[in-house]
Amino acid sequence: MTQHVTDTVATRTPAEASGRPEWWRDAVIYQVYPRSFADSNGDGIGDLPGIRARLPYLNELGVDAVWLSPFYASPQADGGYDVADYRAVDPMFGTLTDADDLIRDAHALGLRIIVDLVPNHCSNQHEWFRQALREGPGSPLRGRFHFRPGKGADGELPPNDWESIFGGPAWTRVTEPDGSPGEWYLHLFAPEQPDFNWDHPAVHDEFRSILRFWLDMGIDGFRVDVAHGLVKAAGLPDVGHDGQVKLLGTQAVPYFDQDGVHEIYRSWRRVLDEYPGERIAVAEAWTPTVERSALYLRPDELHQAFNFDYLGTGWNAAELRDVIDRSLSAMNAVHAPATWVLSNHDVVRHSTRLAGGDAARGLRRARAATLLMLALPGSAYVYQGEELGLPEVVDLPDEVRQDPAFFRSSGQDGTRDGCRVPLPWSGQAPPFGFGPAEQGPSWLPQPADWGRLTVAAQQGDGASTLEFYRRALAVRREHPALGAGRRITWLDGPEGVLAFRRDSGSGSFVCTVNLTGSPVALPTPGTLLLATADVEPGAPTTVLPADCAVWWSV
Ligand code: GLC
Ligand code: CA
Repeated sequence: MTQHVTDTVATRTPAEASGRPEWWRDAVIYQVYPRSFADSNGDGIGDLPGIRARLPYLNELGVDAVWLSPFYASPQADGGYDVADYRAVDPMFGTLTDADDLIRDAHALGLRIIVDLVPNHCSNQHEWFRQALREGPGSPLRGRFHFRPGKGADGELPPNDWESIFGGPAWTRVTEPDGSPGEWYLHLFAPEQPDFNWDHPAVHDEFRSILRFWLDMGIDGFRVDVAHGLVKAAGLPDVGHDGQVKLLGTQAVPYFDQDGVHEIYRSWRRVLDEYPGERIAVAEAWTPTVERSALYLRPDELHQAFNFDYLGTGWNAAELRDVIDRSLSAMNAVHAPATWVLSNHDVVRHSTRLAGGDAARGLRRARAATLLMLALPGSAYVYQGEELGLPEVVDLPDEVRQDPAFFRSSGQDGTRDGCRVPLPWSGQAPPFGFGPAEQGPSWLPQPADWGRLTVAAQQGDGASTLEFYRRALAVRREHPALGAGRRITWLDGPEGVLAFRRDSGSGSFVCTVNLTGSPVALPTPGTLLLATADVEPGAPTTVLPADCAVWWSV
């Protein structure tokens, strides 16, 4: 049998060599979108006390860390990714004391907490931006953002041809304090999200101080929003072609992935390393290639980056094998762990994305995709609700939608609300235990038939998606050959089937995935540990049903 080992670097990191693997190298990190997780006070919006009350649920699920999307003071023009005060909790989510309690309780359970950091832009209600508007052209505060005079006879045209990720020009013209039409400011996202000017030293100082503020509160790491966007090409040159960059896109443009960003991350790494324990940063970096992404993860920069190539790969064995190989080689080259992710708050939930219009098939594939992801070396990200097999909500009425991309859409699909619908916890009718009241509100409406998908309905049901996730995460913890390490050994298999081995000092393990629409017979590699469908291990072969994954110990 031919075997191909994906491994470019044989050396080990100091922690691996000393036998103490760094926690983040194979951590399973659960993303909480606070508005939609659990509402403690019945206003229809999830909040920090709601999350705190559900920490035991996350602990039982078996994840290692929780990443919280932004809960800072914000007018919520972009779901909190428009921060007005980086050191305050928005009253809608609670208080700093609630944050402190949440961090403390999480740690008591052995869960780490990662918070979102949004350094590319702030809210137009941030004090610096309000002051910059008040002070007028040429003022020092304007220097912390990208203000420019417009083009055209009266400055009526934007300074360059950059487009907002959410549609329309990336520039908005302001009215000066004297009432005249004035300068334009840059916003790569919504007009309510002015971009910081990272050429300005005050911006650097401010963010190092914000890092320390949250590190002092005891958090274990940061998820760095739009990590590739901070530095813009000198002179803000035109892109020179149309073609709007999509969310998570990979085009080379003068406002993304400029080499200057790396100096910023080196300085942040020095701050992180000042703190005891292993405090980490994970980059949301959309770059043209996985090799460019790996640059953010050199040993003196950040720790991990989301693998959007993997998320964007369809249900196709050859393409998945290719992206797995490319990811492992690129990450091994900089001694960083690979990461794997299938869903987040910006994309269509994978049970719907992989369904091809058939919900039952979507759920089968979603579970198989999860077993595949959890068998790969590195760190895996789970988005809230995927452990319940939640589908994307595709029929939200326009009047309840809040995604700014929906309102400015020009090519961007603008449908990020469908993956942000509040979680169903219990009961037979909305809000399904999301809030305390039996018929309380929820900021987005939940489908009436979600009673069968609640945590309470799935708990204890061996056939449920929730119990499947719990078992998978428990097995992953028991078997160090899953997750840990940095290599996989591909095994031969028929077309449309992925099969690979993972070895560790304490045992070996095989993962087989049938991505075809029909049953396939494979040599039985060992003892069945876990399968996403009914599988009867046979000798010498076992039949894998369509869209099914199996873990074997060997
Ligand atoms: C990131 C976030 C997304 C947000 C954008 C602007 O891509 O994940 O939700 O809209 O940054 O902050
Ligand atoms: Ca609330």
